[in-house]
Amino acid sequence: MSLAYWQDDCKVNHPPIDQEHHHLLKLLEDLYRSVLWDHSEDILQALLDTLFRATLEHCETEESLMEVFGYPDQISHMEHHEEILALILNYCLTLEQGLRPLSLDDVHDLAACLNRHISTDDLKMVQFVQHQQKHDGAMMTQAINHRIFATISP
Ligand SMILES: [Fe+2]
Ligand SMILES: [Fe+2]
Repeated sequence: MSLAYWQDDCKVNHPPIDQEHHHLLKLLEDLYRSVLWDHSEDILQALLDTLFRATLEHCETEESLMEVFGYPDQISHMEHHEEILALILNYCLTLEQGLRPLSLDDVHDLAACLNRHISTDDLKMVQFVQHQQKHDGAMMTQAINHRIFATISP
């Protein structure tokens, strides 16, 4: 069975952000395959931990970008980040406490939630940032991108 949560239409046309979204959706594909192939709970737990850390790091990157450019919808955007992180954490705790196994529907729900956020909130935020960058000029844009993205591991 082929599975691709990452599609070209997920792109928001900001290469570093697109790269991070691609990474997150690939991790979700790994998680989906692990559930499908009935991997052990230890493996699923490790994948969920990796996904949580990568998502947290990504959210912090976007929040730095919103902060630097004074994005007006920053608060509601951050609330959506909290919801996505809470969903992942909830799956981690459910597994850890042995309440129920992780299902394919759980992974699909998480991917749908992330894809929806990317194609609406993230796209809108990136368009705002790029509009602001046009006013700031290339030198300033380069300096800001260097400051925000140089500290982020791929
Ligand atoms: Fe976001
Ligand atoms: Fe994002």
